[in-house]
Amino acid sequence: MSSVINARALLALAEEARQASYSPYSNITVGAALLTAEGRVYKGANIENASYTPTVCAERVAFFKAISEGERDFLAIAIAGGEKDKPSKADFPPCGVCRQVMAEFCNQDFYVIWGNGEKITKKTLKEIFPDGFDKNSL
Ligand code: THU
Repeated sequence: MSSVINARALLALAEEARQASYSPYSNITVGAALLTAEGRVYKGANIENASYTPTVCAERVAFFKAISEGERDFLAIAIAGGEKDKPSKADFPPCGVCRQVMAEFCNQDFYVIWGNGEKITKKTLKEIFPDGFDKNSL
């Protein structure tokens, strides 16, 4: 199943999602596109706050939208981010908190994709979050 994931197409949807970013404090706009096993895509953008700590990353917005709609089976997420009104950076991997959230809902072979038109990185959750604490640790 994972072999049919089109990283470039999912990144293009993350780029679209990036447009909705609310990030007046960092001016870093981020978009995410989360692909379910049934082929649906949930988009998310980062949402900041004047009080700073309530800020939520694009990836978690995408996950929480999907989870709250009943989705439980995920194949991949693509992330596009960089300075507002500039092209996405080649290297914009997910933060540690988002990796922890991925580990809650995804298998080790879940794909995490980031990049831009020039360079795309596609790694498994196992690769980017080894030895993580999850439900099996309890
Ligand atoms: N951000 C994300 O949306 N995803 C990440 O994985 C890293 C950081 C957002 C949070 C904040 O709004 C801005 O990027 C700068 O850190």
